[in-house]
Amino acid sequence: MTEGSEIGEMASCVVREAVEDDLDAVSVLAARLVRMHHEWDRERFLKAGPSVEAGYRRFLAGELRQPSSLVLVAVTPSGRVVGYAFGRLEPRNWEMLMDDSGVLHDVFVDDSARKGGVGAKLVLGFVERMRARGAQRVVLHTAAQNAAGQALFKKLGFRVTMYEMTL
Ligand SMILES: CC(C)(COP(=O)(O)OP(=O)(O)OC[C@H]1O[C@@H](n2cnc3c(N)ncnc32)[C@H](O)[C@@H]1OP(=O)(O)O)[C@@H](O)C(=O)NCCC(=O)NCCS
Repeated sequence: MTEGSEIGEMASCVVREAVEDDLDAVSVLAARLVRMHHEWDRERFLKAGPSVEAGYRRFLAGELRQPSSLVLVAVTPSGRVVGYAFGRLEPRNWEMLMDDSGVLHDVFVDDSARKGGVGAKLVLGFVERMRARGAQRVVLHTAAQNAAGQALFKKLGFRVTMYEMTL
């Protein structure tokens, strides 16, 4: 497949709610997200052991059964899962001084599918579904080192509201 047709395939990716059968593919991506964060800052982000894929799969299978949770996948026309997003509609949180909100916890796009609009489709798909469920805002955290993530979120209209600090 030429580079041009790969970009075309990403442009035709569909974002839909995940089902159990998607979770093998999703957990491979989720494990990469965990490892990437640990590499950025080993004192802040946990180290993923060899069973992180299986652990994440179990975790997301539980989330699929929670009405407050939302797991989205981006799927190519040929049926390959190339990205996912996970978050929840969370109730008022006094520690965070935040009324009930859509909270986006994860978004990850496979390296082979990046820069083709898939990440934006996943985030916008999450925001749209959270709004439909009544969320007044959508909040997320992104690692200080994550320039690509921050650029994506800023492009979609997110603004910086908190700084996390670690000692
Ligand atoms: C961040 C991430 C999800 C972006 O996915 P993507 O499919 O490549 O993003 P898109 O193609 O939809 O990009 C949309 C916009 O985001 C910004 N962007 C995306 N990747 C970027 C990069 N590497 N550098 C700078 N800006 C970037 C750009 O503004 C881009 O718009 P443009 O193409 O018009 O310049 C992807 O790089 C990824 O999975 N990274 C690892 C996981 C991660 O960081 N997740 C976010 C925090 S949990």
